[in-house]
Amino acid sequence: MKYLGKKVVVTGGTHGMGRAVVDRLIEEGAEVVLTGRTIEKAEGIKAHAIASNAADLDDIAALKTEVAQRLHDIDLLFINVGFSTLTPFDTTTEADYDRTFDVNTKGAFFTAQQLAPLIREGGSIVFTTSVATALGSPGLSVYAGAKAAVRAFARGLAAELAPRNVRVNVVSPGFIDTPSMGVYGVPEEVVQQFKEQGDRITPLKRHGSMDEVAAAVLFLAFDATFTTGAELAVDGGLGQGISA
Ligand SMILES: NC(=O)c1ccc[n+]([C@@H]2O[C@H](COP(=O)([O-])OP(=O)(O)OC[C@H]3O[C@@H](n4cnc5c(N)ncnc54)[C@H](OP(=O)(O)O)[C@@H]3O)[C@@H](O)[C@H]2O)c1
Repeated sequence: MKYLGKKVVVTGGTHGMGRAVVDRLIEEGAEVVLTGRTIEKAEGIKAHAIASNAADLDDIAALKTEVAQRLHDIDLLFINVGFSTLTPFDTTTEADYDRTFDVNTKGAFFTAQQLAPLIREGGSIVFTTSVATALGSPGLSVYAGAKAAVRAFARGLAAELAPRNVRVNVVSPGFIDTPSMGVYGVPEEVVQQFKEQGDRITPLKRHGSMDEVAAAVLFLAFDATFTTGAELAVDGGLGQGISA
């Protein structure tokens, strides 16, 4: 029971890689609060499931109150909510832009701001960004910018929280086999093509698993005790400038 006694908040923990982190934590004895827009998919998980829209500052403030009541203080805040849409630059609307930044960027920032006071000394924050920040990928420009901002936030927060011995790090996934592949609003066959494209262009010639991301998140959270402000890529080499 490696995480017995640990208390953790996972935003975007109902499915995908956030859920993989939740499952590992629960198996190893942690107490977990997880969020999603809807929590039906979390039924049966032995966690506190709270419906909370990451783009809504009132929801984030309410989440802080709930977490304080249920857990009191926390060891890990995993800020994982995010999505992309594969929208080309020339057809991106202001609404597309705002939605992408509201969920991926503003939500991440204010979730950290609201919940950081609950993190115990020695605890940590982990954000999820993306290999898209290191690539020029068609349809992913706004998403890449939104996640690049989160990567920059992590450095600033690492500086501001270091006096409390709270570490702040980033996991940067490449193509990971989650139900959505992180892409919303496109047909299933497009998600499938996206996944196959990932397998072709990734140096390790495959996509990653949710468990491979979860292992990196938990390493940053609990084992990497002299690491802060850092980014750990889980991308099969895709964002690392490796020639095929
Ligand atoms: N899969 C990949 O290949 C990949 C690659 C690079 C980066 N990423 C990033 O990794 C993270 C997780 O991706 P994933 O593939 O695991 O995605 P996923 O399966 O779609 O899971 C996303 C999680 O976030 C929640 N969520 C989405 N929008 C939300 C909102 N507005 N408010 C609250 N919760 C919300 C979802 O729950 P509900 O549906 O209930 O709201 C779910 O729990 C994201 O930040 C994504 O951008 C993914």
